[in-house]
Amino acid sequence: MPNGSVHLADPESSRDRDAVVRLDNRDDAATADLRLAQRRFHLLLVDGEPCGIARLDWVWELIPYLGYIGIEPAHRGFGYSRLLLDAVVEHARASGQPRLFSSSTADEPEPQAWHRHVGFRDAGRIRELNDFGEDEVFFCLDL
Ligand SMILES: CC(C)(COP(=O)(O)OP(=O)(O)OC[C@H]1O[C@@H](n2cnc3c(N)ncnc32)[C@H](O)[C@@H]1OP(=O)(O)O)[C@@H](O)C(=O)NCCC(=O)NCCS
Repeated sequence: MPNGSVHLADPESSRDRDAVVRLDNRDDAATADLRLAQRRFHLLLVDGEPCGIARLDWVWELIPYLGYIGIEPAHRGFGYSRLLLDAVVEHARASGQPRLFSSSTADEPEPQAWHRHVGFRDAGRIRELNDFGEDEVFFCLDL
């Protein structure tokens, strides 16, 4: 495996802020800044360059929820998603909560297969949750 490491993104670091704005699945900087200040991003560095991200959200400001995980295409397939997920799991465990939740748009089989492969189990579905009318399927991982 190439040389990869994961760290909690630092709001004071311009490198980390640029990476979060670029890699999170939301592209507005104001949202990124708010989430950075809340220490919710884990960044994957490969050879010192940010190339992957995981964001921990909180349902009802209480229950840990993997809001997004993404790795740049050139760095996929090296096991780095497990490094990012491990960091999120450790972060979530520190809350004392028993489970980490996650979800995927119902029409995206690849992310769903990834969730099941890395240990999530199916946890239901909310119909038409997405603004484009698609269902959202949920996953759960014991901490
Ligand atoms: C999902 C994503 C983060 C996975 O990262 P990756 O680098 O491709 O996967 P890794 O190399 O870390 O694989 C880790 C394990 O998951 C498995 N895996 C990876 N993608 C998979 C898939 N689509 N279906 C099933 N298993 C998968 C790997 O085989 C590997 O298994 P192993 O450790 O038992 O050998 C990456 O594909 C991505 O960024 N996708 C676009 C964004 C996205 O869809 N995010 C998820 C929804 S929020």
